[in-house]
Amino acid sequence: MGYKVAVVGATGNVGREMLAILAEREFPADEVVALASRRSQGVDVSFGDKTLKCKTLEHYDFSDIDICLMSAGSPVSKEWSPKIAAAGAVVIDNSSCWRYDSDVPLIVPEVNADAVAGFRKKGIIANPNCSTAQLVVALKPLHDKARITRVVVATYQSVSGAGKEAMDELFAQTKSVFTLEEMENKKFPKRIAFNLIPHIDVFMEDGYTKEEWKMVAETKKILDPKIKLTATCVRVPVFISHSEAVNVEFEHPITADEARDILRNAPGCLVIDKREPGGYATPYECAGEDATYVSRIREDATVENGLSMWVVSDNLRKGAALNAIQIAECLIKRKMIQAKRKAA
Ligand SMILES: NC(=O)c1ccc[n+]([C@@H]2O[C@H](COP(=O)([O-])OP(=O)(O)OC[C@H]3O[C@@H](n4cnc5c(N)ncnc54)[C@H](OP(=O)(O)O)[C@@H]3O)[C@@H](O)[C@H]2O)c1
Repeated sequence: MGYKVAVVGATGNVGREMLAILAEREFPADEVVALASRRSQGVDVSFGDKTLKCKTLEHYDFSDIDICLMSAGSPVSKEWSPKIAAAGAVVIDNSSCWRYDSDVPLIVPEVNADAVAGFRKKGIIANPNCSTAQLVVALKPLHDKARITRVVVATYQSVSGAGKEAMDELFAQTKSVFTLEEMENKKFPKRIAFNLIPHIDVFMEDGYTKEEWKMVAETKKILDPKIKLTATCVRVPVFISHSEAVNVEFEHPITADEARDILRNAPGCLVIDKREPGGYATPYECAGEDATYVSRIREDATVENGLSMWVVSDNLRKGAALNAIQIAECLIKRKMIQAKRKAA
């Protein structure tokens, strides 16, 4: 007997990707339930070659659910994750609601899989922010080799990171440019078509944005609290995949060749690094892929032990849905959960 899995937010960007990945990876589920808001009751969503009818979260009985993959935003998670966990399901949440709670593990399986055991305290596991997930996959093996002291990162984040309405806004605005129609800014504070916006999430008192703060706090929690990190997060008119220009300072020397070899053998990483036109990964090519792509690895001669690199990954997959499913697989592999129906 397999597991009974609920996907909350099944009509969203991340939820749809979760359903696709569960089917693709032949996740050991006997039954998958698609849940969303009242607006989506009865809406069809794809699950492999099947179609599931969406049910309403607020009327759903979670008592026989084993694993709940949540991706319906922080307010929904704040209200529902504790109730779902109390019904005996493990909640793997994609929102930022639980990430900084010391009783909730924040997991990227390639980096800190052992911390998953901490889920028993609240029955909730948090998935990191999309920009952090791909960053720590690339940093971890380099940290193991030469101890990272400081990271300076600039992100180039696709609109899918802001949900399905944000993708619609980029599409509509791009069309408006060619048809000379008026364009509206609804999801973004300024026009996103043929533009860049150096602002993601709310502003904090120190001038950083919450998205930038999340990268600092999450890198410390997942990888090492001693790492200093400063980020500039930018929204770009790309539909899927986030890119990052990353500068890293190390305690010990490390060459670009060593880093390339380490990353070639690192879990979840794929190195595309030919020093010629096109010899690097771009967001368009990484959409729909699982790996974190690392390119443009080079030494930074302006600091003692420094490297620069370019890191790209599909934010809906490694940055959200895939990572959540890898966490569920990790729980199963480590025999940390048992299907309720099997146990009964
Ligand atoms: N996109 C990314 O790259 C990414 C990465 C990491 C984390 N996340 C996080 O994942 C979550 C979802 O993101 P997304 O991009 O998939 O957003 P989205 O495309 O806007 O989808 C939101 C989903 O939440 C559902 N929902 C909203 N209110 C609800 C309610 N009251 N009850 C039940 N379901 C409700 C929506 O259902 P309806 O269709 O019925 O409204 C929809 O299925 C967010 O917390 C986001 O921060 C996203």
